Order: sequence, then structure tokens, then C-alpha cells
Amino acid sequence: MLNGKTILITGGTGSFEKQCCREILRRFDPEKVIIFSRDELKQSEMAASPTFSSGKFRFFLGDVRDKPRLERAMHDVDYVIHAAALKQVPAAEYNPHEFIKTNINGAMNVVDAAIATGVRRVIALSIDKATAT
Ligand SMILES: NC(=O)c1ccc[n+]([C@@H]2O[C@H](COP(=O)([O-])OP(=O)(O)OC[C@H]3O[C@@H](n4cnc5c(N)ncnc54)[C@H](OP(=O)(O)O)[C@@H]3O)[C@@H](O)[C@H]2O)c1
Repeated sequence: MLNGKTILITGGTGSFEKQCCREILRRFDPEKVIIFSRDELKQSEMAASPTFSSGKFRFFLGDVRDKPRLERAMHDVDYVIHAAALKQVPAAEYNPHEFIKTNINGAMNVVDAAIATGVRRVIALSIDKATAT
């Protein structure tokens, strides 16, 4: 289903996302894979790696808190895999509002931007951490 398609991965430089990119390359022949994340160093290191320097990858700096930037990045995108997140539990307990801005408001921005730009489908990851207080 991803052959010839353009896929945008939010948080594309993370551990899940890089493995996801490897699997996409192994199983499909996409037109383009856009990595959307904040840190230019992680993006440039990923771009320099032989696995991701095939010409299929585009590196887009952006923050899921910024809906206009997401809309720009999603132009002509077929599928979005939303994996950008903050996930360290101690940091969440100390900085709850920052986690709400990225994990909740950011997810809403991804959905809104996908609807606004006509993305066919968004696949969103659930957090792999759960805590009880
Ligand atoms: N790894 C697993 O095995 C696994 C399993 C189940 C679920 N998950 C879930 O999958 C998600 C990703 O996990 P991960 O292990 O890949 O985490 P990770 O290695 O910490 O990667 C997180 C990614 O999100 C980006 N990011 C963070 N805040 C952002 C923002 N505001 N805007 C755009 N990008 C942002 C980070 O890049 P920048 O810092 O450069 O922006 C990075 O690329 C989490 O929700 C996690 O709970 C992971």
C-alpha cells in the first residue's frame, strides 16, 4: 500500500521511527518519506547514515505544536505516521504542561493538519508508558 506514496513521519528521528523507516524501505518502494522533528543534529546524523541517504528521505524541521508548519509539511502527503512524543515519565511528572502541549495538543494539531491538507490516513502511536498516581 505504500508503493509510490509519500509518507510523513512525525518524530522521524526517534528509535521507533527509524526502525519503522527501515521496515518501510525493506517492504515498499515509497515515492518519498518525510521526517518531521525539531532537532537538526538528529536529522543531520540520520541523513548521513547510509540507510537513510537513498534520496527517498526529506528532512523537515518542525514542531507538532506548530499547526501551520505541520500543514506546510503535509502538502501532497498520502499517509502520516504520528510518533512524535515526549515519553520520559519523571520529566512528565516535573513538566506536565510541556507533555500536554506536545502529546495532546500536538496530536490534535496532526489530525487537524491532516484533514486540512487531504491526507488519506493518519496512523498514531499510543504511548508505551502508563503510570498511576
Ligand atoms: N520505541 C518503542 O519500542 C515504542 C513502543 C510503543 C510505543 N512507542 C511510542 O512511540 C512514540 C515514539 O517513541 P520512541 O521510542 O521512538 O521515542 P524517541 O526515541 O524519544 O523519539 C521521539 C521523537 O519525537 C520527536 N519529537 C519530540 N517532541 C517533538 C515535537 N514537539 N515535535 C516534533 N517532533 C518531536 C523527537 O525528535 P526531536 O527531539 O528532534 O523533535 C524524536 O524524533 C512514543 O509515544 C512512544 O511511547 C514506542
